[in-house]
Amino acid sequence: MGSEIGNVREIDQLPGVGPATAEKLREAGYSDLMSIAVASPRELAEAAEIGESTASKIIINARKLADIGNFETGTVLMEKRSKIGKITTGSKMFDELLGGGFETQSITELFGEFGSSKTQIAHQLCVNVQLPKDQGGLESHAFFIDTENTFRPERIVQMAEAYSLDPDEVLEKIHVARAYNSSHQMLLVEKVIDLSKEIPARLLIVDSLTAHFRAEYVGRGALADRQQKLNKHMHDLLRWSDLNNGAVCVTNQVSSKPDTFFGDPTRPIGGHIVGHTATFRIYLRKSKGPKRIARLIDSPHLPEGEAVFTVTEKGIRD
Ligand code: GTP
Ligand code: MG
Repeated sequence: MGSEIGNVREIDQLPGVGPATAEKLREAGYSDLMSIAVASPRELAEAAEIGESTASKIIINARKLADIGNFETGTVLMEKRSKIGKITTGSKMFDELLGGGFETQSITELFGEFGSSKTQIAHQLCVNVQLPKDQGGLESHAFFIDTENTFRPERIVQMAEAYSLDPDEVLEKIHVARAYNSSHQMLLVEKVIDLSKEIPARLLIVDSLTAHFRAEYVGRGALADRQQKLNKHMHDLLRWSDLNNGAVCVTNQVSSKPDTFFGDPTRPIGGHIVGHTATFRIYLRKSKGPKRIARLIDSPHLPEGEAVFTVTEKGIRD
């Protein structure tokens, strides 16, 4: 599928990697030089069914060719951080909880049970990112990777009209793709990175981040594999947010039923991989009627806290 997308081809040019090995590597999620450069010989040998010494040579070559990364000075990082943009949620209290809204240059994870309003917030952000800056927007387009077929243009129309925006114009600036399985979902991020050279987007939604992974990688034996793929997926998303000074918002469903006898029943899937890569994690839960509660969890620079908001006809409000 889509071998021309992104930098998929670069691993074929790696000395020591034949077409069959390249294919196996890709299947195992090693789709670019960096992922190979940072792999261990053992995991690479296993993934590509090659000897460990061959794997070591491939890794050495990948390290020579990959752009391992530059050190940046504090001044440069400060300058970059000063460009962080924020997208309003539509609710003052919710915005305050987040220090102003959903931030660019980061990934925000929304997790919560069904009906906790993850998809509603995702829709709202697609509208709000288009608002003028003085109204809490970034005057930009949005990408929406839809894995559960829950994107509803009709809902966008309602939300746009609530701000007296032209609904047709708003819909034109939301670029939606269905992801049919987890590999497709990952490829779509490469595609978004490519399209973003032309489309001035500063919001990327993945709703749901984890549903396909959960369905496809079942059982203990598949766990390591799933985590590795999710890790790569999260880093691709981070790369997009970095390249475009954009905000990434991903959703993750958890069950609130205490159907396990150990651990936290509301633990989101993806566990530490998703949790550590996301900059902001918001736990959503249902309250009375249309009321929802958002709780900010382990944020690097904001205090933990909660905000109450409402899902109304017009969208997310106080
Ligand atoms: P899952 O994807 O099933 O995990 O749930 P979710 O967290 O994405 O929930 P979602 O955002 O789809 O729905 C949250 C709530 O929003 C629903 O329970 C409805 O009460 C409300 N809602 C959904 N659509 C509308 C709408 O068009 N108008 C209004 N007023 N409320 C809506
Ligand atoms: Mg949903």
